[in-house]
Amino acid sequence: MKVNRLIFAALWVLLGVQVQAQNTDKAEMDAYINELMGRMTLQEKIGQLNLITPGGGIPTGSAVSTGVESKLKDGLVGGIFGVSSPEKVRQTQELAVEESRLGIPVLVGSDVIHGYKTTFPIPLGLASSWDMELIEKTARVAAKEATADGIFWNFSPMVDIARDPRWGRIAEGAGEDPFLGSEIAKAMVRGYQGDDLTSPNTMMATVKHFALYGASEAGRDYNTTDMSRIRMFNEYLPPYKAAIDAGVGSVMSSFNDVDGIPASGNKWLLTDLLRDQWGFDGFVVSDYTSVNEMIAHGMGDLQAVSALSLKAGLDMDMVGEGFLTTLEKSLKEGKITEDEIELACRRVLEAKYKLGLFEDPYRYADDSRPKKDILTKANRQVAREAAARSFVLLKNEMHTLPLSQSGSIALVGPLANDKNNMLGTWAPTGNPQLSIPVLEGMENVGGRKVKVRYAKGANISDDVEFAKKVNVFGTRIDIDKRSAEEMLNEALELAEQSDVVVAVIGEATEMSGESANRTDITLPESQKKLVRALAKTGKPLVLVMMSGRPMAIGEEYELATSLLQVWHPGVEAGNAIADVLFGAYNPSGKLTATFPHNVGQIPVHYRMKNTGRPQDGDTFMKFKSNYLDAPNSPLFAFGYGLSYTDFDYGKPVFSQTKLKGNESLKVSVDITNTGNFDGEEVVQLYTRDLVASVTRPVKELKGFQKVALKRGETKTVTFELTAEDLAFYNFNLEFRWEPGDFEIMVGPSSDNVQSAVVSWEK
Ligand code: NOJ
Repeated sequence: MKVNRLIFAALWVLLGVQVQAQNTDKAEMDAYINELMGRMTLQEKIGQLNLITPGGGIPTGSAVSTGVESKLKDGLVGGIFGVSSPEKVRQTQELAVEESRLGIPVLVGSDVIHGYKTTFPIPLGLASSWDMELIEKTARVAAKEATADGIFWNFSPMVDIARDPRWGRIAEGAGEDPFLGSEIAKAMVRGYQGDDLTSPNTMMATVKHFALYGASEAGRDYNTTDMSRIRMFNEYLPPYKAAIDAGVGSVMSSFNDVDGIPASGNKWLLTDLLRDQWGFDGFVVSDYTSVNEMIAHGMGDLQAVSALSLKAGLDMDMVGEGFLTTLEKSLKEGKITEDEIELACRRVLEAKYKLGLFEDPYRYADDSRPKKDILTKANRQVAREAAARSFVLLKNEMHTLPLSQSGSIALVGPLANDKNNMLGTWAPTGNPQLSIPVLEGMENVGGRKVKVRYAKGANISDDVEFAKKVNVFGTRIDIDKRSAEEMLNEALELAEQSDVVVAVIGEATEMSGESANRTDITLPESQKKLVRALAKTGKPLVLVMMSGRPMAIGEEYELATSLLQVWHPGVEAGNAIADVLFGAYNPSGKLTATFPHNVGQIPVHYRMKNTGRPQDGDTFMKFKSNYLDAPNSPLFAFGYGLSYTDFDYGKPVFSQTKLKGNESLKVSVDITNTGNFDGEEVVQLYTRDLVASVTRPVKELKGFQKVALKRGETKTVTFELTAEDLAFYNFNLEFRWEPGDFEIMVGPSSDNVQSAVVSWEK
């Protein structure tokens, strides 16, 4: 008891010291910024709110900035993106620091979405690893590489919940689930920011796109979103909040409207919710010209929308310069106040202070670092491991995989010997030519006894017009000079001569991502023909499916002997795919976004509500909630993914089935590896609130653990739940748990669980 008290007292003192230190830091920062702002003109303050790009990287709108050099010298720039390398960043910073009147350094930002030069799998792939340590590590490596190249402010993580695979940007996020999405948001913020923002190898993160961008109607990018507040709070907002709770430095507003007001000018969103309710104290940046785009949304002219945004709580205007060119006029006309400008300016300056820029504006411009820190062997190794862990095994009949390391393999498909499509969307800082094609990986890993021969077999698509739209950043769909028939025959001949066929098929990199939406998410016809013909040969057919979204691949699933979903795996694609195909790594990924049978099922996700007429199973029943022409269940459910080995789940054991208030429930389950390989399993815990004041989902993920099990090994996995874990936003948007009965489910996938009902009283 005494010891406890002593420990408590010591902790109290420590905590006190920490709080005091924080207060002192804050007081010092305030004093510094007060003094600086005291010397700033109105134009200089407005200048801090201006984010420009000279047009490097990917300009994602129709405008790029002009007069960059003179604006820097005139103190009319708060931040810049599209500039990289220590030398260029130093030159940029010199213009601001040495040549502007007050010498205020600029923020140097970039989109470092899944790796900087060492490109990792697309975020949807990384999420499929369910491995928070790994995800944090990839963000850490990305921060180290980006800061070595002068960039210290990242437009990532993208945490938009997405349940519509037509939307191309589903590739950039963690999928459909708010709980998993929140865990990933935290891991990424930790990875980028570390615990010291002033350190030369950490960068400030930006959570985006605030808010609801993933709910764009019809999966069409930039489209309207409209949803109830209760859905927002329970299903779409948690990952943004998680990033904020993890201390993210900035927030990016989204293009879409929220409840009828575009996010970039939505005061409820940017101030009432973000700052007043959630306590966010960083700064808010718009998306690319999203302030200007409010004109097209029908919110007024440039002056009106800029004033609306500032008043809503937006601090920095990306590229559009509505702030730079109209705020002074609005102030004179009494449409905004000086305080509003000052507040935004202060928030931007605080970010610079927190990054240590006032102490040393050149801390991220160290010429010796790129060579040491970028694309190192160790970083590429992380990319290889991350990619292998992101793959999801969807089918493996007759244990076709792993492949034997002797005999002959026909490696076919338009993505089988390709460098241009390995990195995936939003990898502007990566170099596709550094990526390992699958053929090369198979040769590296396969060993001397296995004969791998390659034939392209088909184009990604034969549609010239479609290819033009996809090839905006370089050739992604390469339409062969040979006829489709000639390519197909070559592949079939090879298949006939080989023991097994591995076909690498799917989407080109730019078939997903920003402004890359599809109404048809099946495999292009050219590749469908290839798969059908290969299946007819009767050879074992392994399909390696690359894509930036869940695809409707029911036919391919039927025709394949084995099906491995590999997303766009990044710079080490070929090696990682070969590691998994040959069994050097046993796949352990699980889906984080549902694969529908067809587009007509969308939205389809595991966290659905029950309706008043639920249908039990997939057998059609008249006057139940269902379809005449498709089942309710998807092709592959959230959480689904196989392994080369088998995992046997014991019966879950519940510490008790009647609980009170602040007691906690322990749920344990024995998992045994009963197959022939060592492996890893993601054990998932779901709950269902059986009776509540509002309708609740049939399942909600509340926990997961990834465990490694040797052949024959058994481990007990234990989850602990408290009543707080059962809380949700009720009709009045109060976050509460309601006593009653709860179904608690454990299993390897959302559609394969064992459960028990517990009653939890006040
Ligand atoms: C537009 C995208 O929506 C956003 O995610 C990105 O950060 C900006 N462009 C800057 O490139």
